[in-house]
Amino acid sequence: MEGKRGTWNSNFGFIMAAVGSAVGLGNIWGFPYKMGSSGGFAFLLIYLILAVLIGFVVMMGELVMGRRSGRGAVGAYAKLASRKFRWVGWMGVLSAFLIMSFYSVLGGYCLKYMVVNLGDMLGMSFGSNGLNGGDMFTLLLKNQVECVVYTLIIMVIGAAIVMGGISGGIERFSKYAMPALFILLIVVIIRSVTLDGAMKGLEFMFAPNFEPFEKDFISVLSLAGGQMFFSLSLGMGIMITYGSYLPRRENIQRNALVVIFADTVASILSGMAVIPAAFALGGDGAAMAGPKLLYVTLHNVFNSMGDIGPFIGMLFYLLVVIATVTSVISLIEVITTFFMDHAENHGKTGNRRLITLFVSLAIMALATLVAADGLGTNGVWMPFQAFGVSGWNDCWLSFMDMLSEGVMMPLGALLMCLFISYEWGVDRVVTEVERCGDRFVGRQFFSLCFKVIAPLGMVFILWGQLKGFGLV
Ligand code: PHE
Repeated sequence: MEGKRGTWNSNFGFIMAAVGSAVGLGNIWGFPYKMGSSGGFAFLLIYLILAVLIGFVVMMGELVMGRRSGRGAVGAYAKLASRKFRWVGWMGVLSAFLIMSFYSVLGGYCLKYMVVNLGDMLGMSFGSNGLNGGDMFTLLLKNQVECVVYTLIIMVIGAAIVMGGISGGIERFSKYAMPALFILLIVVIIRSVTLDGAMKGLEFMFAPNFEPFEKDFISVLSLAGGQMFFSLSLGMGIMITYGSYLPRRENIQRNALVVIFADTVASILSGMAVIPAAFALGGDGAAMAGPKLLYVTLHNVFNSMGDIGPFIGMLFYLLVVIATVTSVISLIEVITTFFMDHAENHGKTGNRRLITLFVSLAIMALATLVAADGLGTNGVWMPFQAFGVSGWNDCWLSFMDMLSEGVMMPLGALLMCLFISYEWGVDRVVTEVERCGDRFVGRQFFSLCFKVIAPLGMVFILWGQLKGFGLV
């Protein structure tokens, strides 16, 4: 039966796909800056504690729900949950749709920067032609056609891979792409940390600094929590979907741990690639914040590296594009699996290619809106701006981000914990994990995490996210 639905060919392939989903812009862009500005090593410690006590539990819960039900986000809740929780799966599909609408736009910018660096490398006219990062980014945002085209290219690449299926498309791509990404990261790190002045950057990232904790411990905690959710792709059914293709013999507990470990290592390595170079050649802490880091500061950094700059820049943006694409495919797959499951529930086999095509076209329509808006530069009409709340309604991208990352992901994860703890039962998680033949390690501890620590932590993270978006 599993054969018909499709499965991962190997455990390594599954791990590469799951790590591929997890490692993305959140690691390369968000983590290093947040770590540096919120306590360095001390932030990392808090992040790790949250990842183990909450992230690990939520990831295992999702993988178990997927494998037990053999269905994606919506189907898993439909099969396992009562009326009270059944709608939670829908929120996952909707989040995937919303995240895609802006994630593909940001990936599109990275693709453009990769092309520009290639142009500079070859001395061609599609290079930066001497423009600095700030001017280049402003020009790009104003050029609606270019923004839309690059966004659509990212979508087309993602869709083509998803059309290939679980093992023939996603696994096959991730199996090569992820190791390649790690190798590229190492190459960029070597160049970055050997620049004059790189030490300052490493200090910014790693030196333990308890000042942010003294000022506002709660904010740091919820910042780390929010980052962890987004970075591990939790709370929206990706791991349910990927788990539904996982054969029984695989150890879910161990796999969840490996994915979390690899994602954290990727974040730290990304920081070591980005921050020292940005400090050595680009500026101070302020230059690391927001979109500036990837699209302004780093471009200037590569520009000032001399002859090797465009080459390193090209490699760097290539790795960011790879990281984005492996996340994009997981998001498309959540929605594709929903329709495939729907067909299967009616005794039919869904046409994966056709489904993926329609799903991607729908996402493209929404992404076109976000791309054309250019982070608000082009002022594409938005119905909510009149409310006067700033932050989430600055531009279409912030709005989509607020709905998905700010509300639906933490809410989805909170409800999943409550569902497992108080309706379905932690014992069933243990039983499903043990079907691989290995014992579940730390049962009591996990029960406590599921029932108390994770839900409480989630409420808190949700509140922090709402606050961060200016909603409470
Ligand atoms: N985890 C990805 C990142 O860190 C983002 C993502 C979120 C991907 C949710 C899929 C789902 O960039």
